[in-house]
Amino acid sequence: MAPFASEKPNADSWQGVQGDGWIGPGSILGRCQLVSQIGEGSMGTVWKAWHTTLGISVAVKILRPCRDREAEIRALQRFRQEAHIASRADHPSLVRVLDYGEDHHRPYLVMELVRGPTLEEWMRQAPVCEERTALKVAGHIGIGLANLHQLGVVHRDIKPSNILIHPGRHVKISDLGLAGSPVGLDGQLAGTPHYLAPECVLRGCHDDARSDLYAVGVILYRLLLGRLPFEGSTKAILHAQAWERPDWTIPEGVRLDAGTLYVVRRLLEKEPLRRMQSALELIQACREQVHRLDRREQMASDTPVSVAPESMRIPVDKNRTTRLPVREAGRFRRGFERVVRWLSRTFAP
Ligand SMILES: Nc1ncnc2c1ncn2[C@@H]1O[C@H](COP(=O)(O)OP(=O)(O)O)[C@@H](O)[C@H]1O
Ligand SMILES: [Mg+2]
Repeated sequence: MAPFASEKPNADSWQGVQGDGWIGPGSILGRCQLVSQIGEGSMGTVWKAWHTTLGISVAVKILRPCRDREAEIRALQRFRQEAHIASRADHPSLVRVLDYGEDHHRPYLVMELVRGPTLEEWMRQAPVCEERTALKVAGHIGIGLANLHQLGVVHRDIKPSNILIHPGRHVKISDLGLAGSPVGLDGQLAGTPHYLAPECVLRGCHDDARSDLYAVGVILYRLLLGRLPFEGSTKAILHAQAWERPDWTIPEGVRLDAGTLYVVRRLLEKEPLRRMQSALELIQACREQVHRLDRREQMASDTPVSVAPESMRIPVDKNRTTRLPVREAGRFRRGFERVVRWLSRTFAP
């Protein structure tokens, strides 16, 4: 039986795209039969669909028609470019593209269906995220970016609604609609103001992979502090992105390690040269900080060592020298120091 075969729609409901371009449940685009709309973005609508020859459920993004002919041509160019770039990107951290077509003048992109929420939806449910989870999310985005950057592609629109959370608990970067070579095709300001790097605001286009890292910094800031670095009108946000410092006040009830804040600060540096330089550096920094937090928690949860003399005896192996494992040795040393302190207090003259 084909996977998810129960999702196969009823063949009676099949119909092609209507002459007036109407699209709805049951419409057929290429080899896909649309089932239900699952998302909407700036470029088009995304549908859950049934791929009739592969026998699997897929996601189909359909380009929204524009009223203006010039805008339509530009959007089509971008959509074709998205399909071309996404088909080259082959990594579990990037949404896989299966096909591209133009049916009844309706361009569409067939992708793997991610059956989880977007990071935006996830954050709306839990505005402040646990420190280690936030670092892991940022690290996973870094993995996807490292793969894109390796292809010479800058995403240019990293934001929570373009990050999908796979039920296997890893993230997938989607929407390469603005992606392209580091020098923008149209040279226009593209992207979402809240996540736009200062150099993009000042120079008017993303020309640098480090701009994607700034956007990850904004996501991490929002995950940890439950708010965006800058809010207000588009003009005010763009001004702040270029010239103002974010508010680093930590909300009540939130505890953050200095090392975690340092990672965010390095991502949000205004000057690209002072920012983290690559996605690999981001992955490394998140990994190290998670390990540091794990170690700290492990040390804090170590049961206090009893100072009773019996419990402090080192097991002696008569045939060879016994070496305590590092953690045990640490416990022993701490216990020993405690006894010395107690003795010196008790026998102080
Ligand atoms: N492969 C996918 N699987 C499941 N949902 C998706 C997929 N791709 C996109 N979506 C949903 O559709 C929304 C819009 O998709 P997106 O590619 O960002 O479109 P746009 O280019 O118009 O912004 C996303 O926020 C998400 O909710
Ligand atoms: Mg989008």
